[in-house]
Amino acid sequence: MGEREKLLEVRDLKVTFGTKRHPFTAVDGVSFDIYRGETFGLVGESGSGKTTIGRAIIRVNPVSGGTVTYNGQVISGKVSRQVDRQVIQNIQMIFQDPMASLNERAKVDYIVSEGLYNLGEHLSEAQRQEKVSRALSAVGLLPEFASRFPHEFSGGQRQRIGIARALIMNPQFIIADEPISALDVSIRAQVLNLMSKLQKERGLTYLFIAHDLSVVRFISDRIGVIYRGKLMELAGSEQLFAHPLHPYTKALLSAIPMPDPVGEREKTLLVYDPACHGYTQQDPPQWVEIEPGHFVRGSERELDEYRKVLEG
Ligand SMILES: Nc1ncnc2c1ncn2[C@@H]1O[C@H](COP(=O)(O)OP(=O)(O)O)[C@@H](O)[C@H]1O
Ligand SMILES: [Mg+2]
Repeated sequence: MGEREKLLEVRDLKVTFGTKRHPFTAVDGVSFDIYRGETFGLVGESGSGKTTIGRAIIRVNPVSGGTVTYNGQVISGKVSRQVDRQVIQNIQMIFQDPMASLNERAKVDYIVSEGLYNLGEHLSEAQRQEKVSRALSAVGLLPEFASRFPHEFSGGQRQRIGIARALIMNPQFIIADEPISALDVSIRAQVLNLMSKLQKERGLTYLFIAHDLSVVRFISDRIGVIYRGKLMELAGSEQLFAHPLHPYTKALLSAIPMPDPVGEREKTLLVYDPACHGYTQQDPPQWVEIEPGHFVRGSERELDEYRKVLEG
């Protein structure tokens, strides 16, 4: 593998909601990089801050600390109009529930081209329709579908409409926020295959958000594990599955169903207790690259244990 090009750099990201008197920190000091052309999986239970991170990257959620750098340019906080436009065009998000995220009263034609209006591009009607047709074809839908309404489609087709809506902007980077969680199991693979095909054809980079590890395992190059707004571990997918270090990662792994019924019946489900670390002021948790490309959160005492595990 040649030198990897960093596309996105998230450093010490902090997102706080609520009021000054009653702040709630949803994302707390999160740092990770995403390289061009890869799929980075972000995994954690519901409410852990995954969507908030995605929305902070696309500038929907204001950040209260840290920076987001895209293509070498800071895109968080106050930026020029030009940078704002670049983010709108280059970074697109697709959502979990296509039902909820598509405007039911708008035709597919409008839904798919909405981003173009927001960008204020001066396109002729014919050019716009051509772009819609091409986006629909790219996701395996017929151009005629443009004149229909979302309720006329199945869940899988609706998710394809959501993907077409992102693709029409010709983005480089797509944040896929639990894109298959709301779909029937039987059509999940179709949507994943489509995403992987589009990635190859267009050299796309993905941030793929999911709440369980089994979904991201096979599609991610690297995986970050988040718990209550903080990253617990980050590693290459194979490394994470082969040598999980953090107890929360181990708990997530133990929740993955096993293919054989005997193994499934006899396995132990690990439960993560955040009090298990026994952190002290003298030995607080740190975020450390414990081996090349493998990051984990732990105290000095824990990190020593983790190093021993890795040395075998
Ligand atoms: N706009 C908001 N205002 C207040 N709290 C929010 C807002 N958005 C998210 N949160 C809170 O931040 C936490 C993280 O939410 P979210 O990022 O949606 O989690 P996830 O996507 O991992 O399920 C949750 O406790 C959620 O209730
Ligand atoms: Mg979410």
